[in-house]
Amino acid sequence: MKIFVTRVIPQIGLDLLNKAGFEVTQYTEKRELSQEELILACKAHDALISVGPNKIDEHFLQQCSHLKGIALMSVGYDNVDVEAATRYGVPVSNTPGVLSGATADVAFLLMIAVSRKAFFLHNSIAKGDWGFFEPTANLGQELNGKTLGVLGLGRIGTELAQKCKAAYNMNIIYHNRKPNAEAEQSLAARYVDFETLLKESDVLSVHVNLTEETKGLFNAAAFKQMKPSVIFINTARGAIHNENDLLEALQHQIIWGAGLDVTNPEPMDSTHPLLDLPNVCVLPHIGSATVETRDKMAIMAAQNIIAVLQNQPMPQVINSEIFND
Ligand code: DGY
Repeated sequence: MKIFVTRVIPQIGLDLLNKAGFEVTQYTEKRELSQEELILACKAHDALISVGPNKIDEHFLQQCSHLKGIALMSVGYDNVDVEAATRYGVPVSNTPGVLSGATADVAFLLMIAVSRKAFFLHNSIAKGDWGFFEPTANLGQELNGKTLGVLGLGRIGTELAQKCKAAYNMNIIYHNRKPNAEAEQSLAARYVDFETLLKESDVLSVHVNLTEETKGLFNAAAFKQMKPSVIFINTARGAIHNENDLLEALQHQIIWGAGLDVTNPEPMDSTHPLLDLPNVCVLPHIGSATVETRDKMAIMAAQNIIAVLQNQPMPQVINSEIFND
């Protein structure tokens, strides 16, 4: 059995696959495979480990319905047409849970960094602009006792809320498809509607999947409803905010600051005006980028593939109905 892997992944995952007796081909070039290249590669393999935004859509699945399984090395699966995968009988898995702590850390890091203009001030030193200590310059804002609004209080959102509660005794409000009773109990989190989340948050952090419903959700109209002092954080998917509207909202002081680990498109252009704003911090999609977490993700992806190639259900399957039929 042969497995194709779209990028270089941690060795610990490859070792598991080799130990199970499978042949692994890793694509090692540092560029995105086109869909046709990916289809061609998959035609010569039995299973796929997909890292990054490769479109696993109707066309791909129709061409590659022979695949015994696709393991994503990500928790997000907005690049997959799950309904089509089920129709073509291809099980797809992801890597939930193992990256929640690391991703929540990045949201927390961005929140503090934005609140104190850290990246901008770091860069200003490098540019030779640190000339004189002024008591009224470089002022940020404090987070103690402020209100954290979480859109999507699931695993990652809850980890962030816990950190914010422990560090700054922040009040937690959230908006979800359904209330999270456990978080309400342990964090005194308050369920609010989306408008209230916009209006009451001092920091608003996004932790939902990218879907038709959430695409472009943070646009000019949404930013207008937010506090002028709010810090907007997105570590989920760049397409959930409208980047031009975000830029305008920041330039016109409609909102105060933004921390992004995800942009639209990725990578962000190096001349993007957001990168020059004092109250903005941007990172290159590093939510899960720690040695420990990436190892766990590679292990989980490998375990999913090993299971399916040994005629077992994938432990983290997304379209579980495939194994129920
Ligand atoms: C995820 O796991 O979804 C991360 O954003 C990496 O794509």
